[in-house]
Amino acid sequence: EFRPRNILVTGGCGFIGSNFVHYVHRHHPDVHITVLDKLTYAGNLANIQPLLDDDKQVAFVRGDICDTALLERIVPGHDAIVHFAAESHNDNSIADPRPFVHTNVDGTVALLEAARAANIRFHHVSTDEVFGDLPLDSPERFTESSPYRPSSPYSSTKASSDMLVRAWHRTYGLDVTISNCSNNYGPFQHVEKFIPRQITNLLDGRRPKLYGDGRNVRDWIHTDDHSSAVWTVLTKGMPGETYLVGADGERDNLSVLRAILRAMGRPEDDFDWVRDRPGHDRRYAIDPTKLRTELGWQPRHTDFLAGLTDTIQWYTTHESWWRPDKAATERQYAERGQ
Ligand code: NAD
Ligand code: DAU
Repeated sequence: EFRPRNILVTGGCGFIGSNFVHYVHRHHPDVHITVLDKLTYAGNLANIQPLLDDDKQVAFVRGDICDTALLERIVPGHDAIVHFAAESHNDNSIADPRPFVHTNVDGTVALLEAARAANIRFHHVSTDEVFGDLPLDSPERFTESSPYRPSSPYSSTKASSDMLVRAWHRTYGLDVTISNCSNNYGPFQHVEKFIPRQITNLLDGRRPKLYGDGRNVRDWIHTDDHSSAVWTVLTKGMPGETYLVGADGERDNLSVLRAILRAMGRPEDDFDWVRDRPGHDRRYAIDPTKLRTELGWQPRHTDFLAGLTDTIQWYTTHESWWRPDKAATERQYAERGQ
C-alpha cells in the first residue's frame, strides 16, 4: 500500500476537490495537503477556509496548473499529485470550449511533466463522460474496457487528458492511476449544476428548469463516496490502472426533479421544460466491480433520497455561500434559452 505523507491537491477549492480535502482532513490527519487552485468562477476559498484557519495540515496556493514555473517551485517535496482541477461544466464548454482545452489538456500535461521531474505518483480524477452515452432501457453499463467516445467539448478534453496520463505511464514509467466517476451530488456544488440549480431556484421563488424530455439518466453518487474512492485508488490502486467509480445510482432527470419538488413541499409539475442541451448524452451507468472486488471499496451513502434531503438542507442553511453566484448563473442560462 502507498502511504502518502504530503499530497498536492489541484482544484481543491471546487466542489469535489474541497470535499476530498475535508475527507482527508477528517480521516487522515497525518497527511499534509497543499491545495493548488486558480479560484476561477467555480472555485471558492470559503470551501476550505476553516481548515486553513484551524491547524497546519492544509496549505493553500493560488495559481494556474498551466504555470510551469510555479509547478517547478511547489511540486518538489510532495509524494503525490491528486488532480481534480478542471473546467467541469458541459453547458459552458458548448458556449466556449477554449478554456476547457487550456485547463483540462494543457494543465494536465504541465502537471504530468512536474510529476515526472519530481518522480512522484499522479492520480487523475476523471469522468464517465469519456465513454459517451448508453441507450435508455438497456442493461449495459460502462466498464474499464468501454471504448472512448466523448460527446461534448468538455468530455473530449477529459478523454484527451486520460490518454495523456496513460502515455506518461507507458512512455516515461510515471506511477499513474485514473478514476472515472459518475455524477456527484452533495454540499459545495456550484449552482450551475442540475441538483443545486433546482434547489436554489425553489429557494429563490423561481421554477426549476428541465432540459429536453427529462428522460436522460445519470448515475448519482454522493461526493463523500467519490472521496473515499479516490483515496482508495491513490493508496491501493495499481500504477497504470483505471478504476470506474459508481454507486448504482441510476435515475432519470425527471424523477430527480420530482423528488426535489416533493421534498421541498411543491407540486410535482411546478417546473418549466426548456431547450435541450445540444448533443445531450442520453444515459450514463457505471459498473464498479473492479474497484469493489480488487480494492475493496464500498459506497456508504446508498440511500439517494436521504442524501438528497441532506443536500437540500445544506443549500437551505447556506444561502450566503450560493447567493453571490446565483443571479449571474441564471442570467447566462436565460441567454441560452435554458
Ligand atoms: P468544479 O468546477 O466545481 O471545480 C473545479 C476547480 O478547479 C475550481 O476550484 C477551479 O477554481 C479550479 N480550476 C479550474 N481551472 C484551474 C486552473 N487552470 N488551475 C488551477 N485550478 C483551476 O469541478 P468539480 O465538479 O468539483 O470537478 C472536479 C473534477 O472531478 C474535474 O476534473 C471533473 O472532470 C471531475 N468529475 C466531476 C464529476 C461531477 O459530477 N461534478 C464527476 C466525475 C468527475
Ligand atoms: O458524469 C459525470 C459528469 O457529471 C461530470 O464529468 C461533469 O463535470 C458534471 O458537470 C456532470 O455532468 P452532467 O452534464 O451530467 O451534469 P449537469 O449537472 O450539467 O446535468 C445533469 C443532467 O441534468 C443532464 O442530463 C442535464 C440536465 N439538466 C441540467 C441543468 C443544469 C437539466 O435538465 N436542467 C438543468 O438546469
